[in-house]
Amino acid sequence: MTKMIRTGLIGLGYWGPNLARVLAQAQKSEFTAVCDLDPARLNRMARQYPGTRTFTDVNQFLNSDVEAVLIATPIGTHYELARRALLTGKHVFVEKPLADTSARAAELMEMAARLDRRLMAGHTFVYSPPVVKIKELIDSGTLGDVRYLSFSRVNLGLYNKDVDVVWDLAVHDVSILLYWLGEMPERACSFGRCCVQRAKRDVANLWFQFPSGRVAWCEVSWLSPQKMRRTCIVGSERMVVYDDTEPSEKVRIYDRGVNLRRPENFGEFQLSYRLGDMVAPHLSNAEPLLIEIDHFLDCIESGAAPRTDGKFGQDVVRAIEMASDIGWKAGCAQEELLLNRMGRELAEKAA
Ligand SMILES: NC(=O)c1ccc[n+]([C@@H]2O[C@H](COP(=O)([O-])OP(=O)(O)OC[C@H]3O[C@@H](n4cnc5c(N)ncnc54)[C@H](O)[C@@H]3O)[C@@H](O)[C@H]2O)c1
Repeated sequence: MTKMIRTGLIGLGYWGPNLARVLAQAQKSEFTAVCDLDPARLNRMARQYPGTRTFTDVNQFLNSDVEAVLIATPIGTHYELARRALLTGKHVFVEKPLADTSARAAELMEMAARLDRRLMAGHTFVYSPPVVKIKELIDSGTLGDVRYLSFSRVNLGLYNKDVDVVWDLAVHDVSILLYWLGEMPERACSFGRCCVQRAKRDVANLWFQFPSGRVAWCEVSWLSPQKMRRTCIVGSERMVVYDDTEPSEKVRIYDRGVNLRRPENFGEFQLSYRLGDMVAPHLSNAEPLLIEIDHFLDCIESGAAPRTDGKFGQDVVRAIEMASDIGWKAGCAQEELLLNRMGRELAEKAA
């Protein structure tokens, strides 16, 4: 018989109820407790999931018999709540990003290893069938050498109270990027603008260069008339377009490219264009969030490291920090263009 793991959730705002739904659904989960500072949200949850106990006090929640804690609170609270949960012996799942600094993420990672608890960062896209399919295409060499990747994640967004668009939306793209490429960037920069609120970028571009020579850029915005979730991966043998807004054919593989033929005579270079077929592979329509939570529970049962473990979560935070060394906490005037270190270097060289 499957062993049930007693699960509890902290944070019942916008995202928490989605986790509650899958915790109630997951085969290995016995959803037993919820915690939030807001009693009205707790009452709603208690009505929806009658067996769950409710807590406004995190210490009381952590002293209950819950074995695995999921944290879906604002980013600035992740570190402290995860730290306390680990210290009370719980396995911990923290919504993305793992912490607000890579130093804090590293501390959580080390603490989990020392206490032999599973720590997982909630990078949902890393569990989604289209993203996993593209990882297979990259790793099997089907795309050839991956040359560059471009990401667009824009819409008229939900303005986050606590963080800017980079720490909200770009975290998704960076997690996908690191999962696909399996390497950390060696250089990164970002440019953005605070259009609506002071000191909060609502549009930004991030750029990464990897030791392998691959480059990637991400466009993120809360201020765009249309929703776009589009990624293009260009390899020497195949190109892929992943459009997460498509109801079907989210992944399209194009047999297209440009080759430079060896010159027969000095100076005679010729380009040849390959304009082959497009194939859309069959993808499972399983819900990524359920796959993710099942994986967390499987790892607790087996002792295996989660795919998005503490190290992965820390790498994502580190890559975001590299790209924005003027952090989201730093003030910036309305209409001010943010340049990070590399941008400033370039500007200085050009002057
Ligand atoms: N994986 C995804 O696709 C995805 C999508 C959206 C949000 N998220 C993540 O989910 C997390 C929560 O985001 P949100 O938009 O739901 O935030 P939110 O502000 O809507 O909700 C946060 C909730 O946490 C509660 N809370 C805050 N501090 C608390 C504390 N100390 N103890 C108990 N409860 C506390 C608040 O009362 C609120 O109900 C963030 O980390 C965000 O990045 C992930």
